[in-house]
Amino acid sequence: MHRRQLHRMLQLGEDMAVDWRQATTIEELYEAIRDCRRCPLGETRTNLVLGTGDEDADIMFVGEAPGFQEDRQGIPFVGPAGQFLDQLLASIGLRRSQVYIANTLKCRPPDNRDPQPDELKMCTPYLFKQIEIIAPRIICTLGNHATKTLLKTGTGITQLHGKLLHRDGLAYVPLFHPAAALHKPPLKSVLIEDFQRLKEHLEAERTRWERETVSGAASRAEPAEPADVSEPEQMGFF
Ligand code: URA
Repeated sequence: MHRRQLHRMLQLGEDMAVDWRQATTIEELYEAIRDCRRCPLGETRTNLVLGTGDEDADIMFVGEAPGFQEDRQGIPFVGPAGQFLDQLLASIGLRRSQVYIANTLKCRPPDNRDPQPDELKMCTPYLFKQIEIIAPRIICTLGNHATKTLLKTGTGITQLHGKLLHRDGLAYVPLFHPAAALHKPPLKSVLIEDFQRLKEHLEAERTRWERETVSGAASRAEPAEPADVSEPEQMGFF
C-alpha cells in the first residue's frame, strides 16, 4: 500500500475514535482509552486491562488492579486468583463468559503495589463508564479497595462481606478478594458461603426489578459520582 494511503487510513482511524465519555459499547470505550496516559501507570503497563465477559451481564465483579499475568495478556483475573474466582462462579452454576469482570485500576501498578489515590482518581471514571454500559443488577466488589472506592465507605470488607447494599441506585455485594483467600485459607469457606448468598441476592434483585418494571419504576444501574479518594490509605491485603 502507498505510504500516503496508509497515513490517510491511520488518520481516519484516529478521527473515528470516540471520546470515551461518548462510548456506548465496551469496544468503543476500549478503543478510546487503550493508549491512556492519564497517570504514570500508562508508561509502565504492557496492556491496558479493561474487562472481560458479557456486556449484558447481571453480575459485574470489580477487583483491584491487573497483576503480572493480566498485564501481559490484557485480561483481568487470569492468574491464581482468577482461577479461584472461576471455581467460585462454577459453584453457583456460572461461567466467566456469563458475568462481567473488571478492576478499579486498568493498568498494573509496579510490583503489584496498592493503587495510589491519584491513580484511582484518574481511572475510576472509566470504571463508572463501564458500569453505565454494562448496567449490571449487582456489582460485587472484591476486597477492600474496590469496596471502599465504589461504596464510598470507610467500613472494611470484614464487616460488609456477603451483604446486599444499595447505594445511588446501584446494588452491591462486597466480597473478600479471591487472592486474600488464597493467602488465608479460612477465608475460602467464607467466600464459598458468600457466593451462595450472592445467588439469593441476585434472585431478590431480579424479583424487585420485575416488580418495579410492572409498576413502571424500574431502572437498571446508574453509576454514582466517583468516590473521593484523596486520602492515601494502605489497605493491605486487597
Ligand atoms: N487480577 C486482577 O485482574 N485483579 C485483581 O484484583 C487481582 C488479580
